[in-house]
Amino acid sequence: ADSRCEILPIIDSTNQYLLDKIGQLRSGDCCVAEFQSKARGRRGRRWFSPFGSNLYFSMYWQLEQGVAAAMGLSLVVGIVIADTLRELSGQDIKVKWPNDLYLNDQKLAGILVELAGKTGDCAHAIIGIGVNLMMTNPDPNIVNQKWANLGKVDRNLLVARIVKNLNIKLSEFEKQGLAPFISDWNRLDNFANRPVKLLIGDNIIRGIAKGINEQGALMLEQDGKIHAHIGGEISLRGD
Ligand code: BTN
Repeated sequence: ADSRCEILPIIDSTNQYLLDKIGQLRSGDCCVAEFQSKARGRRGRRWFSPFGSNLYFSMYWQLEQGVAAAMGLSLVVGIVIADTLRELSGQDIKVKWPNDLYLNDQKLAGILVELAGKTGDCAHAIIGIGVNLMMTNPDPNIVNQKWANLGKVDRNLLVARIVKNLNIKLSEFEKQGLAPFISDWNRLDNFANRPVKLLIGDNIIRGIAKGINEQGALMLEQDGKIHAHIGGEISLRGD
């Protein structure tokens, strides 16, 4: 079946809007908003969502394999968004583990996957995507890192391509898992072979970024050995 997409002028959060409608949704259904008053970022943060200047988009997807598939799903979403933004803008868009999008070493877009209502072995995923297009003067209380804009694009076309590509790639992921996507992710990796630090709670781990493995874990070379990490936040060393 085709995706149904709702266009909302003003909403608290596009993710919350879909979360409230679980049960009426089928995989691929989505919504976009012009403005969000209570947009959520990862790790309990907020997401700056001024009127009209950016893309705020959410899509519902049923995880047939249950919550265990959520990590892989969010990495596949990152690949899809990077490739779609590349196609439309011609710019060198990259991914940052686990699922930010970067342009020129600055954050261009964020992905927040929220899970709900596990019934039996299947879980409901709400995939939220925020892309900076023409953002000026972001609130410094909300945006606390270097950010990039994609620039002027046709937002209707952008949404249409994202919806199409997510449907194709997430169906593929459902059948084949993350394995077929690893080389794509590593090709787009903003930090590949660069010295990074991984912050896990109060712990700092230093290493060279070596992409992801089949579980979606971050691979770091530490003292000549490769270690897999499943949590934390990376940044360039020397920052
Ligand atoms: C991040 O912290 O990097 C993730 C940001 C995700 C923001 C998007 S905007 C559309 C959707 N609705 C929300 O409330 N959040 C996501």
